[in-house]
Amino acid sequence: MAESGHVSNGGTTAEQPKGDAQFVVVANRLPVDKEVLPDGTVNWKRSPGGLVTALEPILRAQTGAWVGWSGIADSDDNPDIEGVEIYAVPLSTREIAEYYEGFSNATLWPLYHDVIVKPEYHREWWNTYVEVNRRFAEKTAAAAAEGAIVWIQDYQLQLVPKMLRMLRPDLKIGFFLHIPFPPVELFMQLPWRTEIVEGLLGADLIGFHLPGGAQNFLFLARRLAGQATSKGSVGVRSRFGVVQVGFRTVRVGAFPISIDSGELDANSRSKQIRNRALEIREELGNPKTIMLGVDRLDYTKGIDVRLKALSELLAEKRIDPEQTVMVQLATPSRERVDSYVRMRAGIEQLVGNINGAYGSVGQPVIQYLHRPVPRDELIAFFVAADVMLVTPLRDGMNLVAKEYVACRSDLGGALVLSEFTGAAAELRSAYQANPYDLDGVKDAIVAAVEQTQDEGRRRMRALRRQVLTHNVTKWAESFLGTLSSLSETAADANRGVHLVDGGSESSGRDE
Ligand code: ADP
Ligand code: G6P
Repeated sequence: MAESGHVSNGGTTAEQPKGDAQFVVVANRLPVDKEVLPDGTVNWKRSPGGLVTALEPILRAQTGAWVGWSGIADSDDNPDIEGVEIYAVPLSTREIAEYYEGFSNATLWPLYHDVIVKPEYHREWWNTYVEVNRRFAEKTAAAAAEGAIVWIQDYQLQLVPKMLRMLRPDLKIGFFLHIPFPPVELFMQLPWRTEIVEGLLGADLIGFHLPGGAQNFLFLARRLAGQATSKGSVGVRSRFGVVQVGFRTVRVGAFPISIDSGELDANSRSKQIRNRALEIREELGNPKTIMLGVDRLDYTKGIDVRLKALSELLAEKRIDPEQTVMVQLATPSRERVDSYVRMRAGIEQLVGNINGAYGSVGQPVIQYLHRPVPRDELIAFFVAADVMLVTPLRDGMNLVAKEYVACRSDLGGALVLSEFTGAAAELRSAYQANPYDLDGVKDAIVAAVEQTQDEGRRRMRALRRQVLTHNVTKWAESFLGTLSSLSETAADANRGVHLVDGGSESSGRDE
């Protein structure tokens, strides 16, 4: 129990029962999401979001275990997935409300995304976050074999590294954050900032998408965990990419995530997908320009930004409604969190306003679907789209941008990309814009619509070079390779030398 809200050591290590998995992924969600149909049958579908998109091919290639939650209350079913041993962590309705919707998605998510909406701080939510993190640590301890590699994922589980180390000091523990790590000034708002930093420092290797996130963390580790020294807690010295926690050495680095680009490239070339892309174009009335947005329905994604930009471009007659269709595919997300409810209403109103003002009967300018689209259908949309609109206000990476590029072996299409995505650091040949500068976004959209074929092919070739050579396998190899090569001696030898750069340096840019 975490009645005080403090993260205790969680007991001794001696008699922990061990499992037999040599490699364990720990994530809030399992790779599949449980759905109970009205007739009581159970259906497992792909879980939403980029984390699962990235990790699913890694687990397919390398047998191991996956510890996570099934997506509904009070379920401990372990779905059958070939090659992956599943360890479900059941969550009660209260835990879903306080740990998942509350602390994870109404406190940490907005705090780590530039406080686009105001984070809420509630002590009960924190206490439940501690409790649930402990449950994940215990389940993982029971799954992992002696000396196994454990890879903990994302902001929902930041206390697990320390809790797991207390239970199982024999394990090699990695942690990867899939969202941005915020600037120090924002992180300092968090009443439990020291506990979170200390929780992460339980890992041997902590990975972020970008060097900036790693730098922010290193600064905080020194400031917060260092502060704790005077009160008798851990002593921390951090230099460059290494933090010394007592006798332990923790490495911190940037590992920009990617996608299974080869597989997407191959699928997008298939006859069936090509035909479906042509059909989509026809179903949309053969417009000159198809614009596409593909997102979880989240306020960080800037769906409103692209809609407002389009609305102004239509009003100014810089875009012709007779020749343009925008398709917005939006996966429902976190539907019981207030800020998401409000955002959805705002976006649906904007869609209605634009169609009301500029569409005609049977020919709306915006086609909006509020549901996930099957993978093959999504690939066909990427192949059909002339302009892909990726306009987040803040995004750790944004895999959709990379997926679009991977699907364009024809060198067609154009990518409009927000500067505030992690992907912007790699995809320099996209039409980049600051999502807070609406005129800039409008200009980027018009430039993408009006690009010459030569210009489009030049840009797409450069983008593809980047995405196809830096795939998710390289990302995982880079992170896991660094983690497995760490021993006290190796880490000591590297102390203070560099910020581990698992790809951003070698990955360079697309030009
Ligand atoms: P996030 O992880 O924040 O959701 P990413 O862009 O990194 O954002 O990853 C989103 C993943 O979800 C991608 O693999 C994308 O293809 C998928 N996705 C997003 N929207 C939809 C949709 N409407 N239908 C099907 N898949 C979607
Ligand atoms: C992002 C997060 C993931 C999360 C996913 C879907 O990708 O980084 O941790 O799983 O969104 O969100 P959800 O709340 O539905 O799991």
